[in-house]
Amino acid sequence: MAKAKTVYVCSQCGAESSKWQGQCSECGEWNTMSELRLAKPAAGPARFAGYAGASQASEVRRLSSIEEKDEVRQMLGIGELDRVLGGGLVRGSVVLIGGDPGIGKSTLLLQALAALPKPTLYVTGEESLGQVASRGRRLGLDLERLQALADTEIEKIIDVARKTTPDLLVIDSIQTMYSQGITAAPGSVSQVRDAAAQLVRFAKESGTAVFLVGHVTKEGGIAGPRVLEHMVDAVLYFEGDVGSRFRVLRAFKNRFGAVNELGVFAMGDRGLKEVPNPSAIFLSGHESSASGSMIMVTREGTRPLLVEVQALVDQSPLANPRRVTLGLEQNRLAMLLAVLHRHGGISLYDQDVFVNVVGGLRVQETAADMPVLLAILSSFRDRKLGSRIAAFGEVGLSGEIRPVPNGEERIREAQSHGFEKLIVPKANAPRKSPPGLEIIAAERLSDAIAAVL
Ligand code: TYD
Ligand code: MG
Repeated sequence: MAKAKTVYVCSQCGAESSKWQGQCSECGEWNTMSELRLAKPAAGPARFAGYAGASQASEVRRLSSIEEKDEVRQMLGIGELDRVLGGGLVRGSVVLIGGDPGIGKSTLLLQALAALPKPTLYVTGEESLGQVASRGRRLGLDLERLQALADTEIEKIIDVARKTTPDLLVIDSIQTMYSQGITAAPGSVSQVRDAAAQLVRFAKESGTAVFLVGHVTKEGGIAGPRVLEHMVDAVLYFEGDVGSRFRVLRAFKNRFGAVNELGVFAMGDRGLKEVPNPSAIFLSGHESSASGSMIMVTREGTRPLLVEVQALVDQSPLANPRRVTLGLEQNRLAMLLAVLHRHGGISLYDQDVFVNVVGGLRVQETAADMPVLLAILSSFRDRKLGSRIAAFGEVGLSGEIRPVPNGEERIREAQSHGFEKLIVPKANAPRKSPPGLEIIAAERLSDAIAAVL
């Protein structure tokens, strides 16, 4: 037998090195290398056994000869969760769910297990079975059908899972798991990585779908090696505003569905409830809107959402005025302000600019450009835009308003929520305005500004 091998792994990017370094040579992060001792040096292919398909015999095959049996989907019966997963749970898939402590990860997964009409297994390394049972009772779940195990030794857990053959296995949380073969403490990079690799292998071999709960670090990423994200099929983040009962589940990576897909839940005294029509909760609820507020029609994943964006523009006492965004990319704001100056003739060089997306939502798509600029201008000029007006559209560097995908769907969403005016890119505008909604087609930024401000 070969000698036990020691490697050093970066917790940030997962890079390996044969000797310890203060700085990772791959990603440049400091103090992220930690020791990984491989007790049983794995033979070549087994080291990658965590990846899908590794358990199959290696032979070259024509893709047309491969059946679709891999993607057997099972609806969990929690619509918002099924949506984020890309239309139900895929057999043998591994899903990592991250989120702040207390956000509701354990609650959501316990509800998912109870909803699935198949054998399941909930493994907790954080709570006692008594605590899990009392939570289940409080949630009003059918405890008769729920099987739970309190353990943290990964080999033992997989053994039990092999015997009980559940359709869905939940590991709460991956950071509490440890493997006998590794000397490092539970929660360390090596333990997390090894436990996850064993679970991924088990999932692919047995067809059991596995949910891993992952803790989130201060910086907002999932603790443990980044490589965890590469090993699993989907990474979901459970987010929410402090003090708000709304929770958003977002797909950050998904091999079986759209990324950025959103599922919205409300936390109540009987657990998490779905919010199937979430548009309304991202509006601040002010009937008579104030200056600096604008509604945008964004599209996260596969569904349109009406979201309020607020801006505050104020004389700055600083030599370098502040540009602060919450829920939007900061660089995008800098770019939009430059376009506003160059092509709108409006300079904000001596003004602080703050932009906030209501409801703690993060908007990544470019359709937010035009509404963000209109909110900024509305605050700068202290002119209200009115509460029944919305907009979407990308702003190009030469001041043109560019079309965005799924214009029709966005227009329908605004119409169904009773909006009266909608500013859209010219190329997205329908020939005829739908009943009750006036469509303003903008070709250039100046058109949009002239139309409403
Ligand atoms: P939990 O699922 O334990 O969070 P996580 O596993 O992400 O750490 O959620 C716990 C929080 O949810 C706790 O603050 C109490 C709250 N909660 C409710 O408001 N209603 C409920 O029915 C349950 C079960 C929890
Ligand atoms: Mg928990």
